[in-house]
Amino acid sequence: MLPCGQPMLIPDNATESPDVNQTIEFLLNGKRISIAELPPTTTLLEYLRDNRRLTGTKEGCAEGDCGACTVSVGELRHGQILHRAVNACILFLPMLAGKSVLTAEGILGPDGELHPCQQAIVKTHGSQCGFCTPGFSMSLYAAYRNGGLNGADAINDTLAGNLCRCTGYGPLIAAAGDMDTATPPAWETGRQANERRELLALAEIGSIEYRTGASTCLIPATLDEFADAVARLPDATIVAGATDVGLWVTKQFRPLDDLIFVNRVKGFGEITKTANGLSIGAGASYGDAQAAIAAMFPDFGELIRRIGSVQVRNSGTIGGNVANGSPIGDTPPALIALGATLTLRNGSERRQISIEDYFIAYGKQDRRKGEFIESIAIPKLNNPLQLRCYKLSKRFDQDISALCGCFNITIEGGTVSEARIAFGGMAAIPKRAAAVEAALLGQSWDETTIRRAMATFRQDFTPISDMRASGEYRLKAAENLMMKYYLEGELPPEKSRMIGAGRTF
Ligand SMILES: Cc1cc2nc3c(=O)[nH]c(=O)nc-3n(C[C@H](O)[C@H](O)[C@H](O)COP(=O)(O)OP(=O)(O)OC[C@H]3O[C@@H](n4cnc5c(N)ncnc54)[C@H](O)[C@@H]3O)c2cc1C
Ligand code: FES
Ligand code: FES
Repeated sequence: MLPCGQPMLIPDNATESPDVNQTIEFLLNGKRISIAELPPTTTLLEYLRDNRRLTGTKEGCAEGDCGACTVSVGELRHGQILHRAVNACILFLPMLAGKSVLTAEGILGPDGELHPCQQAIVKTHGSQCGFCTPGFSMSLYAAYRNGGLNGADAINDTLAGNLCRCTGYGPLIAAAGDMDTATPPAWETGRQANERRELLALAEIGSIEYRTGASTCLIPATLDEFADAVARLPDATIVAGATDVGLWVTKQFRPLDDLIFVNRVKGFGEITKTANGLSIGAGASYGDAQAAIAAMFPDFGELIRRIGSVQVRNSGTIGGNVANGSPIGDTPPALIALGATLTLRNGSERRQISIEDYFIAYGKQDRRKGEFIESIAIPKLNNPLQLRCYKLSKRFDQDISALCGCFNITIEGGTVSEARIAFGGMAAIPKRAAAVEAALLGQSWDETTIRRAMATFRQDFTPISDMRASGEYRLKAAENLMMKYYLEGELPPEKSRMIGAGRTF
């Protein structure tokens, strides 16, 4: 469907255009495709099924939840191809410029031979009705391209974004552990070499200005071009991973006019370890940032592992999570607890603000016309284990928080010398628990202080009741998380670490 709700009659424009900078070029199952006239909010799933008749890629939910539409998208990183599983249903065509898309049909051998990851599903009897099977096979394919899967946690994480309603997960998990990665067929090796050649050629293309009807869609290649684009079209929608924006189109049928895409901007996803901590480019996906964050702040790394699924984390960005200002976004509480700073850029002007000041009121953030979030700086901690993050949701994976609490408390000589505590899901914005912090500061770190601090949550928050939790549950849980933080601190570090966000919770 079009954003306006009209049925989509999609013209097939997969033809060469003389001006590559006005077309969107990418590889589809090894062949170069050029898109010239389709609406920029056409999803990859619509394109595959309606234009290409590649109907192996299925539509289940059209909102990134079920994984039936999983494809593998490859891009060049330092000269090597990085393949990752993503949800085609919330991926707009311009986000593919310069990339390589592989579908369940595209990973077959030249004579229809099953790929080793598909063969593994057959061998372990991992398919019944088959609706989920292409999606599972593409999640496995992306893992295959990254050297296979080792251990139950890696397998569970990889498959958490794929739902199967009839086979049961046992055989699918067995298939994930049974992929033959050691002896790739010759056609697989040859295909990868061809893919690399084609991607190198596509990398020559600079910024793209794609126009359809009255809408302008800019796909800049550098940060300066991106800044110019936002200044030139200040009312345009910035699209990063589209894990929020995609749903505005597929679920809310919102028409979007001008669009500016983040995906090709060199350096926008850069992650740098600095003398003071970590600098994260706003365009960094969770998948890109997770390892660096986990190395410096283990519990924040665990929290990121609980955002959506692998497919969502491969597309969604930390910048997008902050920018949208959602009261239930998971990274803002952790970033506030850590005292992170945002760099907002307007043309060549930059300003820095503390992240908690960015969230003004529900739906209102401190972002001026023509500005965008360029990067996020997180100061390092002397004791990385003092940051602990607790996400409470109905399911472990692929679920939005009922509440998310992050605690960063410094204790010196048995007394609280600094406290930064922030919550999502407890107010209209991600918010610091100022009264709780005040009840802790300068007090001795013992159960009496903790119980006194627990009683002050009601001064900081009046949470609402909704389908995720009642207001009273949220308050009670927040109070109890304070106690949990205290009790975990009494444990030896190897036991206290990662209990909150990890699988034991
Ligand atoms: C199935 C599913 C599960 C999810 N699970 C979770 C979860 O567990 N926890 C959670 O917190 N979220 C979750 N989300 C929400 C989503 O993944 C995050 O909010 C994500 O971080 C958004 O990033 P994005 O790059 O996809 O942003 P987009 O959708 O591209 O953009 C989101 C908003 O940010 C703006 N924007 C993006 N980048 C910038 C920038 N650099 N400067 C200024 N504005 C910008 C856009 O204009 C838009 O308003 C889930 C989403 C899905 C579909
Ligand atoms: S159709 Fe369900 S995740 Fe895309
Ligand atoms: S085999 Fe039927 S949904 Fe998985």
